[in-house]
Amino acid sequence: MSHSTGISDLGLDLASLTVHADDNLALVSDVTTPLHVSTTYHYNDDPSKLKSAREHDIRVADKPGSFIYSRFSTPVIERLEAVVSAALNGHAIVYSSGLAAYTAALAHYHPKKLSIGDGYHGCHGVARIFTRLSNMEQIELYDENLGEGDLMHIETPINPTGLSVDLAKAVEFAHSRGAKVLVDATFAPPPLQDPFEFGVDMVMHSATKYLGGHSDLLAGVLVTKDDDVRMRLLQDRGMLGGAPGNFESWLLLRSMRTFKMRVETQSRNATTVVQFLNSAIKNSEIPVLKTIYHSSLQTEDFVRKQLKNGLFGPTFSIEVESIEVAKTLPSRLKLFHHATSLGGVESLIEWRAMTDEHVSQTLLRLSIGVEDADDLIADLKQGLLSFSK
Ligand SMILES: Cc1ncc(COP(=O)(O)O)c(C=O)c1O
Repeated sequence: MSHSTGISDLGLDLASLTVHADDNLALVSDVTTPLHVSTTYHYNDDPSKLKSAREHDIRVADKPGSFIYSRFSTPVIERLEAVVSAALNGHAIVYSSGLAAYTAALAHYHPKKLSIGDGYHGCHGVARIFTRLSNMEQIELYDENLGEGDLMHIETPINPTGLSVDLAKAVEFAHSRGAKVLVDATFAPPPLQDPFEFGVDMVMHSATKYLGGHSDLLAGVLVTKDDDVRMRLLQDRGMLGGAPGNFESWLLLRSMRTFKMRVETQSRNATTVVQFLNSAIKNSEIPVLKTIYHSSLQTEDFVRKQLKNGLFGPTFSIEVESIEVAKTLPSRLKLFHHATSLGGVESLIEWRAMTDEHVSQTLLRLSIGVEDADDLIADLKQGLLSFSK
Protein backbone atom coordinates (compact mmCIF):
# COMPACT_ATOMS: atom_id res chain seq x y z
CA MET A 1 0.00 0.00 0.00
CA SER A 2 1.52 3.34 -0.95
CA HIS A 3 0.77 6.92 -1.88
CA SER A 4 4.15 7.32 -3.55
CA THR A 5 4.41 8.14 -7.24
CA GLY A 6 8.02 7.66 -8.32
CA ILE A 7 9.69 10.06 -5.91
CA SER A 8 13.11 9.33 -7.44
CA ASP A 9 12.12 11.61 -10.34
CA LEU A 10 11.19 14.57 -8.14
CA GLY A 11 14.74 15.79 -7.44
CA LEU A 12 14.09 15.78 -3.71
CA ASP A 13 16.49 17.09 -1.08
CA LEU A 14 18.19 14.69 1.35
CA ALA A 15 15.76 15.75 4.11
CA SER A 16 12.75 14.68 2.02
CA LEU A 17 14.39 11.52 0.68
CA THR A 18 15.10 10.07 4.11
CA VAL A 19 11.41 10.50 5.02
CA HIS A 20 9.93 9.24 1.74
CA ALA A 21 12.38 7.11 -0.30
CA ASP A 22 10.73 3.89 0.95
CA ASP A 23 7.06 4.96 0.67
CA ASN A 24 6.49 2.71 -2.34
CA LEU A 25 7.68 -0.32 -0.35
CA ALA A 26 5.00 -0.07 2.36
CA LEU A 27 3.18 -3.39 2.76
CA VAL A 28 0.47 -2.05 5.09
CA SER A 29 -1.34 1.28 5.57
CA ASP A 30 0.63 2.29 8.74
CA VAL A 31 2.14 5.77 8.38
CA THR A 32 5.21 4.74 10.40
CA THR A 33 7.13 1.64 9.40
CA PRO A 34 5.96 -1.44 11.31
CA LEU A 35 8.52 -3.62 13.04
CA HIS A 36 8.34 -7.08 11.45
CA VAL A 37 9.98 -9.78 13.54
CA SER A 38 9.46 -12.92 11.47
CA THR A 39 12.52 -14.85 10.36
CA THR A 40 10.63 -16.74 7.66
CA TYR A 41 7.96 -15.89 5.07
CA HIS A 42 4.96 -17.80 3.74
CA TYR A 43 5.55 -19.04 0.17
CA ASN A 44 3.03 -18.25 -2.56
CA ASP A 45 -0.13 -20.39 -2.36
CA ASP A 46 -0.25 -20.59 -6.15
CA PRO A 47 1.89 -23.61 -7.18
CA SER A 48 2.50 -22.10 -10.63
CA LYS A 49 4.36 -19.16 -8.99
CA LEU A 50 6.83 -21.40 -7.08
CA LYS A 51 10.42 -21.49 -8.38
CA SER A 52 13.05 -24.03 -7.44
CA ALA A 53 16.45 -22.85 -6.16
CA ARG A 54 17.84 -23.88 -9.57
CA GLU A 55 15.64 -21.27 -11.25
CA HIS A 56 16.37 -18.30 -8.99
CA ASP A 57 18.93 -17.09 -6.44
CA ILE A 58 17.27 -17.40 -3.04
CA ARG A 59 19.86 -15.00 -1.55
CA VAL A 60 18.62 -12.01 -3.55
CA ALA A 61 14.97 -10.95 -3.67
CA ASP A 62 13.60 -11.32 -7.22
CA LYS A 63 11.39 -8.29 -6.76
CA PRO A 64 10.40 -5.97 -3.88
CA GLY A 65 8.48 -7.80 -1.19
CA SER A 66 9.60 -11.34 -2.16
CA PHE A 67 11.02 -12.51 1.14
CA ILE A 68 12.16 -16.03 1.98
CA TYR A 69 14.33 -16.00 5.10
CA SER A 70 15.53 -13.08 7.20
CA ARG A 71 19.24 -13.80 6.70
CA PHE A 72 18.71 -12.69 3.07
CA SER A 73 16.40 -9.73 3.59
CA THR A 74 13.32 -8.58 5.49
CA PRO A 75 10.61 -5.95 4.93
CA VAL A 76 12.42 -3.57 7.28
CA ILE A 77 15.85 -4.10 5.68
CA GLU A 78 14.31 -3.55 2.24
CA ARG A 79 12.83 -0.21 3.31
CA LEU A 80 15.98 0.74 5.20
CA GLU A 81 18.17 0.05 2.17
CA ALA A 82 15.89 2.17 -0.04
CA VAL A 83 16.34 5.12 2.33
CA VAL A 84 20.08 4.65 2.92
CA SER A 85 20.65 4.21 -0.84
CA ALA A 86 18.89 7.53 -1.49
CA ALA A 87 20.88 9.24 1.28
CA LEU A 88 24.28 7.85 0.28
CA ASN A 89 23.82 8.22 -3.47
CA GLY A 90 24.31 4.60 -4.56
CA HIS A 91 23.16 1.05 -3.87
CA ALA A 92 23.42 0.57 -0.10
CA ILE A 93 23.75 -2.85 1.53
CA VAL A 94 23.30 -2.79 5.30
CA TYR A 95 25.22 -5.02 7.74
CA SER A 96 25.08 -5.87 11.44
CA SER A 97 28.00 -3.49 12.26
CA GLY A 98 30.56 -1.25 10.61
CA LEU A 99 33.18 -3.97 10.93
CA ALA A 100 30.81 -6.56 9.43
CA ALA A 101 30.53 -4.17 6.46
CA TYR A 102 34.33 -3.83 6.27
CA THR A 103 34.73 -7.62 6.45
CA ALA A 104 32.25 -7.93 3.56
CA ALA A 105 34.22 -5.36 1.53
CA LEU A 106 37.52 -7.21 2.03
CA ALA A 107 35.81 -10.55 1.24
CA HIS A 108 34.40 -8.98 -1.94
CA TYR A 109 37.63 -7.45 -3.25
CA HIS A 110 39.90 -10.15 -1.77
CA PRO A 111 43.00 -8.09 -2.62
CA LYS A 112 46.52 -9.52 -2.66
CA LYS A 113 47.68 -6.18 -1.27
CA LEU A 114 45.75 -3.78 0.95
CA SER A 115 47.09 -0.24 1.05
CA ILE A 116 45.98 1.16 4.40
CA GLY A 117 46.94 4.24 6.37
CA ASP A 118 45.86 5.83 9.64
CA GLY A 119 42.35 5.21 10.81
CA TYR A 120 40.04 3.19 13.02
CA HIS A 121 41.96 0.47 14.85
CA GLY A 122 39.10 -2.04 14.30
CA CYS A 123 39.56 -1.92 10.51
CA HIS A 124 43.24 -2.70 11.04
CA GLY A 125 42.10 -5.61 13.21
CA VAL A 126 39.92 -7.00 10.40
CA ALA A 127 42.81 -6.54 7.94
CA ARG A 128 45.07 -8.58 10.26
CA ILE A 129 42.55 -11.45 10.18
CA PHE A 130 42.59 -11.43 6.35
CA THR A 131 46.38 -11.39 6.41
CA ARG A 132 46.32 -14.41 8.73
CA LEU A 133 43.78 -16.28 6.61
CA SER A 134 44.90 -15.48 3.08
CA ASN A 135 48.35 -13.86 3.33
CA MET A 136 46.91 -10.51 2.21
CA GLU A 137 49.87 -8.15 2.30
CA GLN A 138 49.38 -4.81 4.03
CA ILE A 139 51.29 -1.88 2.55
CA GLU A 140 51.49 1.85 3.25
CA LEU A 141 49.30 4.37 1.44
CA TYR A 142 50.95 5.38 -1.85
CA ASP A 143 53.22 2.32 -1.87
CA GLU A 144 54.50 1.89 -5.44
CA ASN A 145 53.81 -1.86 -5.20
CA LEU A 146 50.03 -1.31 -5.30
CA GLY A 147 48.78 -3.03 -8.47
CA GLU A 148 45.98 -4.60 -10.47
CA GLY A 149 43.26 -6.13 -8.29
CA ASP A 150 44.61 -4.58 -5.08
CA LEU A 151 42.66 -2.30 -2.75
CA MET A 152 43.39 1.09 -1.23
CA HIS A 153 41.50 1.78 2.00
CA ILE A 154 41.11 5.46 2.82
CA GLU A 155 39.42 6.86 5.89
CA THR A 156 38.41 10.50 5.73
CA PRO A 157 38.06 12.35 8.00
CA ILE A 158 40.31 10.10 10.06
CA ASN A 159 39.44 8.59 13.41
CA PRO A 160 40.31 9.90 15.99
CA THR A 161 41.65 13.29 14.89
CA GLY A 162 38.93 14.34 12.45
CA LEU A 163 41.55 15.44 9.88
CA SER A 164 40.78 14.95 6.16
CA VAL A 165 42.90 13.21 3.54
CA ASP A 166 42.86 13.93 -0.21
CA LEU A 167 40.43 11.60 -2.02
CA ALA A 168 41.15 12.78 -5.59
CA LYS A 169 44.87 12.11 -5.07
CA ALA A 170 44.20 8.63 -3.66
CA VAL A 171 41.84 7.72 -6.52
CA GLU A 172 44.31 8.88 -9.16
CA PHE A 173 47.14 6.90 -7.59
CA ALA A 174 45.11 3.69 -7.12
CA HIS A 175 43.24 3.70 -10.42
CA SER A 176 46.37 4.41 -12.45
CA ARG A 177 47.70 1.11 -11.05
CA GLY A 178 44.51 -0.89 -11.56
CA ALA A 179 43.58 -0.92 -7.86
CA LYS A 180 40.18 -0.08 -6.32
CA VAL A 181 39.46 2.54 -3.64
CA LEU A 182 37.27 1.94 -0.61
CA VAL A 183 36.47 4.95 1.58
CA ASP A 184 35.37 4.77 5.18
CA ALA A 185 33.35 8.00 5.34
CA THR A 186 31.91 7.41 8.81
CA PHE A 187 33.24 10.73 10.15
CA ALA A 188 31.57 12.85 7.44
CA PRO A 189 28.19 11.52 6.31
CA PRO A 190 25.96 13.44 3.87
CA PRO A 191 25.30 16.30 3.46
CA LEU A 192 28.93 16.95 4.46
CA GLN A 193 30.69 14.77 1.90
CA ASP A 194 30.04 12.47 -1.07
CA PRO A 195 33.18 10.40 -1.83
CA PHE A 196 31.63 9.20 -5.12
CA GLU A 197 32.20 12.72 -6.50
CA PHE A 198 35.91 11.87 -6.45
CA GLY A 199 35.56 8.58 -8.31
CA VAL A 200 35.96 6.12 -5.42
CA ASP A 201 34.70 2.57 -5.98
CA MET A 202 32.96 1.84 -2.69
CA VAL A 203 31.89 3.84 0.35
CA MET A 204 31.54 2.44 3.83
CA HIS A 205 29.94 3.82 7.00
CA SER A 206 29.70 2.59 10.52
CA ALA A 207 25.95 3.30 10.71
CA THR A 208 26.32 2.92 14.47
CA LYS A 209 27.53 6.55 14.38
CA TYR A 210 25.75 9.35 12.46
CA LEU A 211 23.21 7.29 10.53
CA GLY A 212 21.98 5.70 13.79
CA GLY A 213 22.64 8.87 15.73
CA HIS A 214 21.26 7.80 19.12
CA SER A 215 23.93 5.45 20.50
CA ASP A 216 21.41 2.61 20.58
CA LEU A 217 22.16 0.36 17.60
CA LEU A 218 25.06 -1.30 15.78
CA ALA A 219 25.01 -1.32 11.97
CA GLY A 220 27.24 -0.79 8.96
CA VAL A 221 26.76 0.07 5.28
CA LEU A 222 28.57 -0.52 2.00
CA VAL A 223 27.57 1.62 -0.96
CA THR A 224 28.34 0.90 -4.60
CA LYS A 225 27.31 2.51 -7.89
CA ASP A 226 27.66 -0.83 -9.67
CA ASP A 227 24.59 -3.07 -9.91
CA ASP A 228 26.67 -6.26 -10.33
CA VAL A 229 28.73 -5.45 -7.24
CA ARG A 230 25.51 -4.86 -5.31
CA MET A 231 24.24 -8.28 -6.37
CA ARG A 232 27.45 -10.04 -5.32
CA LEU A 233 27.50 -8.24 -1.97
CA LEU A 234 23.89 -9.31 -1.33
CA GLN A 235 24.72 -12.91 -2.26
CA ASP A 236 27.76 -12.89 0.05
CA ARG A 237 25.80 -11.31 2.89
CA GLY A 238 23.20 -14.06 2.62
CA MET A 239 25.93 -16.66 3.06
CA LEU A 240 28.24 -14.92 5.54
CA GLY A 241 25.31 -13.99 7.80
CA GLY A 242 26.09 -10.28 8.11
CA ALA A 243 22.54 -8.92 7.77
CA PRO A 244 21.30 -6.65 10.59
CA GLY A 245 18.57 -7.86 12.93
CA ASN A 246 14.99 -6.67 12.52
CA PHE A 247 14.95 -4.42 15.57
CA GLU A 248 18.27 -2.71 14.76
CA SER A 249 17.08 -2.20 11.17
CA TRP A 250 13.87 -0.65 12.42
CA LEU A 251 15.74 1.63 14.83
CA LEU A 252 18.10 2.69 12.06
CA LEU A 253 15.25 3.42 9.67
CA ARG A 254 13.57 5.51 12.35
CA SER A 255 16.85 7.38 12.89
CA MET A 256 17.22 8.09 9.19
CA ARG A 257 14.02 10.15 9.22
CA THR A 258 15.85 12.93 11.14
CA PHE A 259 19.29 12.30 9.62
CA LYS A 260 19.96 15.61 7.88
CA MET A 261 18.84 17.89 10.69
CA ARG A 262 20.88 15.96 13.26
CA VAL A 263 24.07 15.88 11.20
CA GLU A 264 23.86 19.55 10.22
CA THR A 265 23.29 20.64 13.82
CA GLN A 266 26.14 18.45 15.09
CA SER A 267 28.44 19.74 12.38
CA ARG A 268 27.70 23.42 13.05
CA ASN A 269 28.00 22.88 16.81
CA ALA A 270 31.36 21.15 16.40
CA THR A 271 32.81 23.91 14.23
CA THR A 272 31.65 26.54 16.74
CA VAL A 273 33.26 24.62 19.63
CA VAL A 274 36.47 24.09 17.61
CA GLN A 275 36.67 27.82 16.81
CA PHE A 276 36.39 28.65 20.49
CA LEU A 277 39.03 26.13 21.57
CA ASN A 278 41.38 27.08 18.74
CA SER A 279 41.29 30.76 19.60
CA ALA A 280 41.75 29.90 23.28
CA ILE A 281 44.96 28.04 22.31
CA LYS A 282 46.17 30.94 20.14
CA ASN A 283 45.55 33.47 22.91
CA SER A 284 46.93 31.16 25.64
CA GLU A 285 43.65 31.52 27.55
CA ILE A 286 43.48 27.87 28.66
CA PRO A 287 46.93 26.76 29.86
CA VAL A 288 46.27 22.97 29.86
CA LEU A 289 44.93 22.95 26.28
CA LYS A 290 47.82 22.43 23.85
CA THR A 291 46.61 21.34 20.39
CA ILE A 292 43.38 20.86 18.47
CA TYR A 293 42.77 18.77 15.32
CA HIS A 294 39.79 19.24 12.99
CA SER A 295 39.21 19.49 9.24
CA SER A 296 37.93 23.08 9.64
CA LEU A 297 41.46 24.09 10.69
CA GLN A 298 43.16 22.48 7.68
CA THR A 299 44.24 24.93 4.99
CA GLU A 300 44.84 22.57 2.02
CA ASP A 301 42.54 23.24 -0.98
CA PHE A 302 41.14 19.69 -1.19
CA VAL A 303 39.53 19.91 2.27
CA ARG A 304 36.88 22.45 1.25
CA LYS A 305 36.24 20.56 -1.98
CA GLN A 306 35.50 17.35 -0.07
CA LEU A 307 33.63 18.85 2.87
CA LYS A 308 30.92 20.92 1.29
CA ASN A 309 28.73 23.85 2.35
CA GLY A 310 31.07 24.89 5.15
CA LEU A 311 30.09 21.74 7.06
CA PHE A 312 32.83 19.73 8.78
CA GLY A 313 32.74 16.46 10.71
CA PRO A 314 31.27 16.69 14.22
CA THR A 315 34.14 14.70 15.81
CA PHE A 316 37.59 16.13 16.60
CA SER A 317 40.49 15.71 19.02
CA ILE A 318 42.47 17.82 21.45
CA GLU A 319 45.82 17.32 23.16
CA VAL A 320 46.15 18.44 26.75
CA GLU A 321 49.16 19.19 28.95
CA SER A 322 49.52 15.81 30.68
CA ILE A 323 48.13 12.29 30.97
CA GLU A 324 46.70 13.30 34.35
CA VAL A 325 44.66 16.11 32.76
CA ALA A 326 43.54 13.78 29.94
CA LYS A 327 42.28 11.23 32.45
CA THR A 328 40.64 13.80 34.74
CA LEU A 329 38.94 16.26 32.36
CA PRO A 330 36.03 13.95 31.39
CA SER A 331 34.95 13.66 35.05
CA ARG A 332 34.86 17.46 35.37
CA LEU A 333 32.40 17.95 32.50
CA LYS A 334 28.65 18.00 33.00
CA LEU A 335 27.35 17.74 29.41
CA PHE A 336 29.82 15.21 27.99
CA HIS A 337 29.63 11.50 28.79
CA HIS A 338 33.03 9.87 29.19
CA ALA A 339 32.50 7.06 26.69
CA THR A 340 33.78 5.67 23.43
CA SER A 341 31.92 5.93 20.08
CA LEU A 342 30.55 9.01 18.35
CA GLY A 343 27.73 10.35 16.23
CA GLY A 344 24.93 10.31 18.81
CA VAL A 345 22.74 13.25 19.80
CA GLU A 346 24.56 13.41 23.14
CA SER A 347 28.11 14.80 23.28
CA LEU A 348 30.88 12.38 24.27
CA ILE A 349 34.49 12.80 25.29
CA GLU A 350 36.99 9.94 25.44
CA TRP A 351 40.49 9.60 26.81
CA ARG A 352 41.30 7.78 23.58
CA ALA A 353 44.24 5.80 24.95
CA MET A 354 41.66 3.59 26.68
CA THR A 355 40.55 1.97 23.41
CA ASP A 356 43.32 2.75 20.92
CA GLU A 357 46.82 1.68 21.88
CA HIS A 358 48.43 3.66 19.05
CA VAL A 359 47.36 7.21 19.98
CA SER A 360 49.09 9.79 22.13
CA GLN A 361 48.33 9.36 25.84
CA THR A 362 47.32 13.03 26.11
CA LEU A 363 44.69 12.89 23.36
CA LEU A 364 40.98 13.32 24.02
CA ARG A 365 38.39 12.70 21.29
CA LEU A 366 35.19 14.75 21.36
CA SER A 367 31.98 13.81 19.57
CA ILE A 368 29.64 16.78 19.49
CA GLY A 369 25.90 16.23 19.83
CA VAL A 370 22.81 18.34 19.26
CA GLU A 371 22.93 20.30 22.54
CA ASP A 372 23.30 24.09 22.40
CA ALA A 373 26.84 24.99 21.26
CA ASP A 374 27.21 27.78 23.86
CA ASP A 375 26.27 25.37 26.65
CA LEU A 376 28.91 22.92 25.42
CA ILE A 377 31.53 25.69 25.22
CA ALA A 378 30.72 26.86 28.76
CA ASP A 379 31.05 23.31 30.07
CA LEU A 380 34.40 22.72 28.33
CA LYS A 381 35.70 26.10 29.48
CA GLN A 382 34.88 25.47 33.16
CA GLY A 383 36.32 21.94 32.97
CA LEU A 384 39.58 22.98 31.28
CA LEU A 385 40.06 26.06 33.47
CA SER A 386 39.49 24.04 36.65
CA PHE A 387 43.09 22.80 36.31
CA SER A 388 44.42 26.37 36.62
CA LYS A 389 42.91 26.97 40.05
C1 LIG B 1 35.79 5.20 11.27
C2 LIG B 1 35.15 3.96 11.78
N1 LIG B 1 34.98 2.92 10.96
C3 LIG B 1 34.41 1.77 11.38
C4 LIG B 1 34.03 1.60 12.69
C5 LIG B 1 33.43 0.30 13.13
O1 LIG B 1 32.06 0.40 13.25
P1 LIG B 1 31.18 -0.53 14.21
O2 LIG B 1 31.57 -0.23 15.62
O3 LIG B 1 29.78 -0.17 13.84
O4 LIG B 1 31.52 -1.95 13.85
C6 LIG B 1 34.17 2.67 13.59
C7 LIG B 1 33.76 2.51 15.01
O5 LIG B 1 34.10 3.32 15.84
C8 LIG B 1 34.76 3.87 13.12
O6 LIG B 1 34.95 4.93 13.93
